[in-house]
Amino acid sequence: MRPAIATTIASLEAHRIDLARRSIASLFDNDPQRFECFSARMDDLLFDYSKHGLDSHALALLLQLARDAGLEKRREALFAGDRINLTEGRAVMHMALRNLSGKPVLVDGKDVMPDVIAVREAFLAFAEKIRSGEIRGSTGQTFIDVVNIGIGGSDLGPAMAARALSPFCEGGPRAHFVSNVDGADIADTLAPLDLSRTLFIISSKTFTTQETMTNAASARARVAQALGEAAVCDHFAAVSTKLDLVEKFGIRSDRVFGFWDWVGGRYSIWSAIGLALAIAIGRGNFREFLRGAQDMDRHFTDTPLQDNIPVLMGLIGVWYRNIWDYSAHAVIPYDQRLARFSAYLQQLDMESNGKSVRRGGEETDLATAPVIWGEPGTNGQHAFFQMLHQGSEPCPVDFLVAAEPVAADDHHHALLVSNCLAQSEALMRGRNHHDVKELLKAGGLSKETIHQLAPHKVFPGNRPSSTIMYRRLDPYTLGRLIALYEHKIFVQSVIWDINAFDQWGVELGKELCSNLAPAVIHDDAPLNGLHPATAGLIGYRRSLKAGG
Ligand code: F6P
Repeated sequence: MRPAIATTIASLEAHRIDLARRSIASLFDNDPQRFECFSARMDDLLFDYSKHGLDSHALALLLQLARDAGLEKRREALFAGDRINLTEGRAVMHMALRNLSGKPVLVDGKDVMPDVIAVREAFLAFAEKIRSGEIRGSTGQTFIDVVNIGIGGSDLGPAMAARALSPFCEGGPRAHFVSNVDGADIADTLAPLDLSRTLFIISSKTFTTQETMTNAASARARVAQALGEAAVCDHFAAVSTKLDLVEKFGIRSDRVFGFWDWVGGRYSIWSAIGLALAIAIGRGNFREFLRGAQDMDRHFTDTPLQDNIPVLMGLIGVWYRNIWDYSAHAVIPYDQRLARFSAYLQQLDMESNGKSVRRGGEETDLATAPVIWGEPGTNGQHAFFQMLHQGSEPCPVDFLVAAEPVAADDHHHALLVSNCLAQSEALMRGRNHHDVKELLKAGGLSKETIHQLAPHKVFPGNRPSSTIMYRRLDPYTLGRLIALYEHKIFVQSVIWDINAFDQWGVELGKELCSNLAPAVIHDDAPLNGLHPATAGLIGYRRSLKAGG
């Protein structure tokens, strides 16, 4: 292990043994200022990390770990446009896409902002023309539905955000998202739509992704069949870095919006990949969304480490992953409109940090990305919270909640917030055996029943969570939240010394799929040459299809 890191990790491990003797709840007993001391703010956005098994010494050691790993230098390199994505030889500059400051951003010595602004203005103008009805379909009618065809980073971001910001979508067409190569996805999405009033956006950084190209070809065929071949150009737009491939597909050049290889797919929502979102929420709201992210960039670059929210979040994640050995992390928004937020974060986090090789090619010396998962509360309370409260391995949670509702009833919202607060307190405090017995006794149960029931009703407590609270979920705050998690993930990648910006782990499956697809498509294709495990399954499928 890197020597400085090894020393600090050893100190953290020793301190953990100390801390493990004290419950999180008891840390509040000894420190009436704990809530204030263990929370950080960016304007209205509060990051409360008081309900963690952490004290100021643990925090100091974690900050030392960040320094040992050279976090400040690596952050500088990120923002300087250095080619930190070593295995692809690329800079990582999605922050340029939300730079509204007018300041230049250099990549390889060249200011990329003129191109960024030109494309941004072009796609936002296009979005406005779709919304206003200035641009119409082949029959002269306005568009009332927009279907984004893309997958991974070309789908999850705009799909999650369009849902999150639904109250801000007034006046725009409805946004739909088709991603899966499963034909059911496009069939079910298109079934209720009128193609003459539908615009398709083909979103693909590479414009080669099997799922997207297959869905794009199907959509094209459907439009040509319903409205005639000549109508295709009126019903398609595209977003890609591969403008030559888009041209081959036959999309009008004034409806093609580019971006650059220094924007990773899962970091591309800020680019024209956000077109479907921009059409849904409009130019002004989209710019607010960018502004929120830009302000979070500033917070990340300018705030001292001990008050820096992405840094604190990243370090707390490291504390549990590497010192406590917890393998999962839940993100639970108490906001139904953030229903796809955890799915979005799954790609952002696990495609970035789900790696076991360090930047230099050596095996990692620390465990990396935990499993990221979650669903909105309160629904989760009636599903998986059982495991959060009484499962055998604690799972740290991020609770996200707005102080005020947007286009929803105040009373419902007050109950929503109450549930969120109750859950994080319950996870921390638990209920011990003695209290359980007293409660059962007060309920008039017999000694024997109490003896039987009590162990099942004990809540171990001491289960950590953070709470992120903000005024309301609007475009500005959604922009802040996404950028917050982007930077948290970057911080962890620095501690783990991994490249968060490539994704070679997705390649092997893609390759095998193209090799074996012919044998699945053609029932008479020979199976020799295929792995027996796969050949066996293809053979079994053939027999089922044949009525066997
Ligand atoms: O297969 C993984 C991946 O490359 C993601 O990183 C990316 O977001 C997604 O596929 C879609 O890629 P594209 O935008 O090139 O179609």
